[in-house]
Amino acid sequence: MNILEPSMGDGRFISTLKALDGNFKVTGIELFESEYQKVQDKVFNDDRFKLKNEDFYKFYRETDSHYDLIIGNPPYIRYQLLTAEQREIQSDILEKNGLKANKLINAWVAFTVAAIELLVPSGTLAFVLPTDILQVNYAKELRKLFSSVFTHLTIIQFKETVFDQLQQDVVIIIGKKKKNFFDDHAISIKNITSSNDLINININDLPVEPSTVTESLYKNDKWNLTLLEEEDRVFYESIKNSDKIIYFNNHIKGEVGITTGKNSIFSVSNETVLDYDLSDYTIPLLGRSVEANGIYYKPEDHEMNANNGKNVNLLDFNNKLLNFGAEKYIENIEELELHNGYKLSIRNKWYEVPSIWVPDGFLLRRIGSYPKILLNKTGATTTDTFHRLTFNSYYDKDLLIFLCYSSITLMSFELESRIFAGGALEILPGDLKNILIPKPHLEIYFDKNLLSELDNKLRNNDEIEHVVSWVDNIVIQLCRISPDTVHNSFCIWKELRENRLNKRK
Ligand SMILES: C[S@@+](CC[C@H](N)C(=O)[O-])C[C@H]1O[C@@H](n2cnc3c(N)ncnc32)[C@H](O)[C@@H]1O
Repeated sequence: MNILEPSMGDGRFISTLKALDGNFKVTGIELFESEYQKVQDKVFNDDRFKLKNEDFYKFYRETDSHYDLIIGNPPYIRYQLLTAEQREIQSDILEKNGLKANKLINAWVAFTVAAIELLVPSGTLAFVLPTDILQVNYAKELRKLFSSVFTHLTIIQFKETVFDQLQQDVVIIIGKKKKNFFDDHAISIKNITSSNDLINININDLPVEPSTVTESLYKNDKWNLTLLEEEDRVFYESIKNSDKIIYFNNHIKGEVGITTGKNSIFSVSNETVLDYDLSDYTIPLLGRSVEANGIYYKPEDHEMNANNGKNVNLLDFNNKLLNFGAEKYIENIEELELHNGYKLSIRNKWYEVPSIWVPDGFLLRRIGSYPKILLNKTGATTTDTFHRLTFNSYYDKDLLIFLCYSSITLMSFELESRIFAGGALEILPGDLKNILIPKPHLEIYFDKNLLSELDNKLRNNDEIEHVVSWVDNIVIQLCRISPDTVHNSFCIWKELRENRLNKRK
């Protein structure tokens, strides 16, 4: 049996292999000499191991060997940090295997694709990979490759953070390469609590997903669905396709907030406005998440933020004659050379910020405990901490916002956003096409006081699970949706959220 470890580091996999009896041959590669030497010292008298202090990219280009097992934890290196030669070989690896090369692709993707290529038919890949594999767009093609090259793919995920010293959350991917191109493909997903549970896993007897779910998984932009147990995955798929929901994007358009290029120049406090006589150039601004609680962003909230010295004004100099104060403000910035960033340099006038408009509502880009969606009652705009929302629906906007706090919607936020190490979620405007909202029944009347009540509950910091249960009970009536569906969604949302927040500890 021929085994390859393409990036040995200090040799954890190699040490484990060394402890095993057996007549196998291991090729181990490591770029850095000091690391290589550590591993070499561990196996120097064992002729089953042939270690090389080499760049795996070069090794790939030169080797004609194939392996029965390729195991490891490939390096996480941004394209920009690769050498020109590594970039060139990375493009070769990707293109040769049917993937498009681009500057977003991290080294671990190329290592994985190269390793798959270097497997013999029926050979096995076992890699520790960043959870990005399940989520980021640039890994989408890699996920597609998995379905065409592996006959069986196992994904093992951890509820707890596995390697404390790593910034990245990781998953384990184990793929068995097809013998023939037309062999079937199946996927099995195992969610375990911690690395201690790995010992109980026999990859040969994991349950295999029904083919319909496998298919829908490969169609999805993200693989967060793998966070669910099989039964819940089937439930989520069924609710997505039911006539009881509508899609966020079809009713509320989300666009990024204003990219000022430098918020410290363009978002200013009332004091600065007074000092420089800038009141003709200001638009109310909701700058940071801490400045917004509840459902409404009201004039009173804005005033309170202003009184607390927050930067509640956006400077808009577009097509306006500059008064003495404005000229002085701009000159000061230029003297201090604060305006030299790239984004400002590509404008005709660096101080004219494009795309300033006032939205109907806001959605916080980073999701902490739960998504923050607000209605704009002040004529404020926002920088890119928030997305800007515009309502283009025949449904009343108060009703839509209310429904967004149902567990159906919150469950979809957990599943359709990108999860970062440490449990933060990020939602991008492109993800909103997958966010679900329970569909209001046509004959219902929505009492707007309910939204004020929701606003109060959130401002009072009521326990979010109680708030969502309360919304859910009303949703059952507003949407004539079955209590079981709502209850199931609540349980799924609660568990996803708890698991995510546990990773923050
Ligand atoms: C995430 S560590 C994996 C270490 C080891 N597999 C383990 O789990 O302990 C990645 C290793 O890849 C090495 N590396 C980075 N670029 C490489 C390259 N082009 N060729 C070979 N190794 C490389 C790094 O030096 C680092 O030791």
